[in-house]
Amino acid sequence: MIKVDISNVWGLLALPDLLAAEKEVSAAHNTVMDGSGEGNDFLGWLNLPTRETTQEMRRIMDAAKAIRESSEAFVVVGIGGSYLGPRAAIELMEGPNYNLKRGTKGNPRIFFAGNNLSTRAWNDLVEQLEGKDFSVAFISKSGTTTEPAIATRALRWMLERKYGSEVSKSRIFAITDPEKGALRQMAQEEGWETFTIPQNVGGRFSVLTAVGLLPMAVAGIDIEAVMAGAAEAKQCYDLRSFENPVWLYAAIRNLLNRKGKEIELLTSFEPAFKMMGGWWQQLFGESEGKDGMGIFPVTAEFTADLHSLGQMIQQGKRNLFETMVRFAPDANAVTVGSDYKNLDGLNYLEGKTLDFVDEQAFRGTVAAHVDGGVPVITMDVGQLNDAKLGEIFYFFELACGISAYMLGVNPFNQPGVEFYKRNMFQLLGKPGYEQK
Ligand code: PA5
Repeated sequence: MIKVDISNVWGLLALPDLLAAEKEVSAAHNTVMDGSGEGNDFLGWLNLPTRETTQEMRRIMDAAKAIRESSEAFVVVGIGGSYLGPRAAIELMEGPNYNLKRGTKGNPRIFFAGNNLSTRAWNDLVEQLEGKDFSVAFISKSGTTTEPAIATRALRWMLERKYGSEVSKSRIFAITDPEKGALRQMAQEEGWETFTIPQNVGGRFSVLTAVGLLPMAVAGIDIEAVMAGAAEAKQCYDLRSFENPVWLYAAIRNLLNRKGKEIELLTSFEPAFKMMGGWWQQLFGESEGKDGMGIFPVTAEFTADLHSLGQMIQQGKRNLFETMVRFAPDANAVTVGSDYKNLDGLNYLEGKTLDFVDEQAFRGTVAAHVDGGVPVITMDVGQLNDAKLGEIFYFFELACGISAYMLGVNPFNQPGVEFYKRNMFQLLGKPGYEQK
């Protein structure tokens, strides 16, 4: 289990506050599990974790094998819930420089596209794909989102120009709604292999469908282990008491919010965690930010951001709390060496591991931030492996559902996301969206 330490929130909160919230957390947990709350038609994510290798997983693994064997590059097209999960998974497991270790058949580079409207980013991708054998996954639940739709059209043409329309079919995979949407229709008409995002699974809860699993499998992540980890998590985190770390996390963040802490800063001392922070940000932001409510989710990477945001965290407006995610040290320890001149004065660290220094930075940061009036929740994830990845995803998804119900909002809709899309369609002159 992921360990949640709340010893650094006392002061602003007291134990009786937590105990008084027990019934509320329990009710919110029941609402998620028995499907009695608003948005209950989007609870399909609860049924995704499995210890069995389903037929869909087998197809995903076969597709991933074919992609790896035939491609030096693989482009994952999608945005929001159709993008952040797989990128978070790959970066957490392999680090932000994962592509530097890749680029051959058997071990393709993995690029993400369709998540912006930047010409520079597009031109850069085209340059990266120049002369390379590549395959693509087009991911869109609705099948109509503008950013990925533009990238889909362009990449499809690139493939068809390179391989011809027949051969390129074997290099295109579509992940979308089982019935509706332009992407589903295109895939059917063109004969592309498709995977399904179940209708009862929302974008930000879709990482354990083919949305996350196909890119993970192409990256060489063991998706059976990921799903087994999630299944194990589903069982463990069903515990109905404050021994359940999900309960502690959901309860404390809501209690802190009620005491005026409006911002949650999710931090980690692990650069590879950065995109996981992005996934978490969407999960909680879209689930809770509605009806004039919500805890604003932001992320920071330590120690780098201690040298930028650190001042604000320490002495800025006292409206935030922090959740610090920790991992067990890497198996390959690194030691600070000795320098006979010692001009940098670092010999006092001679023989100490980088993990030791990191641990002191962590402890020093917690103490400083708590002193500065920032309550800190600590999450000890333990050893990172493929099963743990599945556990992390399920942990946050369940915590998010419980927390949003505690807040009194529907965790599973996102009416606000549509507003910018509608304005953009009007400005672009999309048929059906003309300005009145
Ligand atoms: O969570 C959401 O609904 C959004 O972030 C979507 O995932 C995002 O807009 C992409 O939508 P789609 O998968 O339909 O292209």
